[in-house]
Amino acid sequence: MQKAQFGMIGLGTMGRNLVLNMADHGIAISGYDRSTDQQKRLLEEGKGKPVQAAATMQAFVESLETPRRIMMLVPAGKIVDAVIDEIKPFLQAGDILIDGGNSHFTDTDARIARLQDTGIHFTGMGVSGGEDGARLGPSMMPGGNKNGYAELKNILEKIAAQTEDGPCVTFVGNGSAGHYTKMVHNGIEYAIMQLISEIYGILRNVGGCSNDELHAIFSNWNQGALQSFLVEITAKVFLQPDDVDASKRLVDVILDRAAQKGTGMWTSESALELHIPTPAIDEAVAARDLSAYKKERELIDAFTAAPAVKNTVDKEQLIAALHDALYFGMAISYIQGLHLLQAASETYKYEINIAEVVRIWKGGCIIRSVMLNDIRKAYVNDAALKNLLLDKTFYNLLVQKRAGLVTVLKTAMDNNLGTPVLSSSLNYFDMFSTGRSSSNLIQAQRDFFGAHTYERIDKEGNFHTNWE
Ligand code: 6PG
Repeated sequence: MQKAQFGMIGLGTMGRNLVLNMADHGIAISGYDRSTDQQKRLLEEGKGKPVQAAATMQAFVESLETPRRIMMLVPAGKIVDAVIDEIKPFLQAGDILIDGGNSHFTDTDARIARLQDTGIHFTGMGVSGGEDGARLGPSMMPGGNKNGYAELKNILEKIAAQTEDGPCVTFVGNGSAGHYTKMVHNGIEYAIMQLISEIYGILRNVGGCSNDELHAIFSNWNQGALQSFLVEITAKVFLQPDDVDASKRLVDVILDRAAQKGTGMWTSESALELHIPTPAIDEAVAARDLSAYKKERELIDAFTAAPAVKNTVDKEQLIAALHDALYFGMAISYIQGLHLLQAASETYKYEINIAEVVRIWKGGCIIRSVMLNDIRKAYVNDAALKNLLLDKTFYNLLVQKRAGLVTVLKTAMDNNLGTPVLSSSLNYFDMFSTGRSSSNLIQAQRDFFGAHTYERIDKEGNFHTNWE
């Protein structure tokens, strides 16, 4: 049998869809999964395409041309290490082993180190876009080393989502840069999803919008500056009938308790460690955590009667303000995520080109949006841009939206609606654009009780005062 150009381990929906995507592009591909059902399923769905399935790991490796290009799409954690242990004896120097799951970047670093002596190129690669993305064109964020990527480039570029600026894949950077970048992508994803749900809460509770109206509003927004995958699918969500009782909409019967697999939290943890402020992401993680307290929330809610809805702006004005607030919040989510990525790139020597990351996020992934065009421009103009707010054009875009956000926040507060990511976005923006903040007082307090010293505005050095 003809040797396959690419191998896939893990033939769940994501793995299978990626295999079929490659086969559609004429790439001969071999798949392996412990489950014989999954092997059969691949062969059925891949009928007539250059797809084969192997019955054992050894047969799988032998079915591949060298250097072998192999992707694992298995659950992150111990299973990745188990697969590496199982496949390692069959591989040789120059082979490329990709982990396409959402692994923690420190695990990826450890695996690179573990395989260093073997000459196997271990590539941590973020893959975004869900099941449809895998089948029709995902955004892919491979790290590792350039030599390994050179063997993958042609294939990955073919199967990636395509935009007017090229395929949504590039060598992101050294070591665990690919998984780090995907983690930050997910942190931004958490923040934008929470923002949209805050906006929805206001439209539903204060604006009294029906699901049909909500659909119309989000569809309309998706035609303009807010055009994005998440706004697009949100519009669709409101139309979906309940599959149990078709007289209802599904969104109304879904329990308000948001789950998570941890990548948002990892982003916040890493940001705290690197001292990069990412409050939009932190608040989005906290909001998911808080949503889990469903019982307690209901008990506390019953303490007082619901206040009457207060709205000082008319519905059209409110919708316009919400549009600007969402724009503002989305922009802040990207700003914080990219600031973190830039800092991590320096700390971990990833050598990430942020403009390129933004480019490959323009299609295929969950956080794709038209706003990324402006963001990319800023990083193309200045590759070392520490924080996007330093780009005056981008900063001015946010200044124009600030008033809308303030209107929204006042309305939310008047109606006892928590808006953690919207609120924190305004705080972040206002604090980041304040030259003389109030943190001098914190330094005074630290020096007062702990002799921690302070700096002065008028001369260099560290000073201590015997406070009275
Ligand atoms: C993507 C997504 C995906 C992620 C899910 C679930 O880019 O395709 O980020 O990788 O696993 O969105 O994440 P949570 O379960 O943590 O919400």
